[in-house]
Amino acid sequence: MNGISLGYAMCGSFCTLRRALDAMKRLRELGAEITPIMSPIVYSTDTRFGKAEDIRREAEEICGRKIIHTVKDAEPIGPKSPFDLLIAAPCTGNTLSKFSLGITDTSVTMALKAHIRNQKPLLISLATNDALSATAKNIGALLNTKNVFFVPFSQDDPLGKPTSMIADFSLIPEAATAALNGKQLTPVVK
Ligand SMILES: Cc1cc2nc3c(=O)[nH]c(=O)nc-3n(C[C@H](O)[C@H](O)[C@H](O)COP(=O)(O)O)c2cc1C
Repeated sequence: MNGISLGYAMCGSFCTLRRALDAMKRLRELGAEITPIMSPIVYSTDTRFGKAEDIRREAEEICGRKIIHTVKDAEPIGPKSPFDLLIAAPCTGNTLSKFSLGITDTSVTMALKAHIRNQKPLLISLATNDALSATAKNIGALLNTKNVFFVPFSQDDPLGKPTSMIADFSLIPEAATAALNGKQLTPVVK
């Protein structure tokens, strides 16, 4: 990852933010330059999984950079094309579906759209309870979209949450290396 420039976009899957921050730290240790991006809900909302201020501080400390959290600040990602790879971790069903359908109304959907227009790779680390229901068709569309790759994912609780799927966040560095080489890490569904 030495010398690689990453965008790292965090969405409102609050229970997986810890895992996403750990993966961000690992990518920094591996030498990546990282720009943090947060959806508005992550940037501003305290939940039982942590305070927004603490999550913002940790991300900025790991990356040594300010967080992009508005559509306006994400827009230059199109013309400036600053990232070799953009990682969405965690990626909600909400953001995944909007991106798939061409809806651009948050910092993260703006970042994804701006980045992908430059034919550069996007890596999605999914975490959503509706992966096998409302979001399923949009996951399917993105599995079949050029330059879009997935961190391998699986059903996390088939009995308790039968439509939920979650990425293996520990595989983010490996999946990122594969995506930078234009490859999907497999098995994509574990
Ligand atoms: C405590 C909490 C946990 C949530 N966990 C998830 C989740 O794991 N996956 C998901 O897709 N949405 C989850 N949501 C819902 C999203 O935060 C919501 O759809 C939000 O609008 C997503 O915005 P974003 O995609 O712009 O980040 C959660 C919401 C709350 C309040």
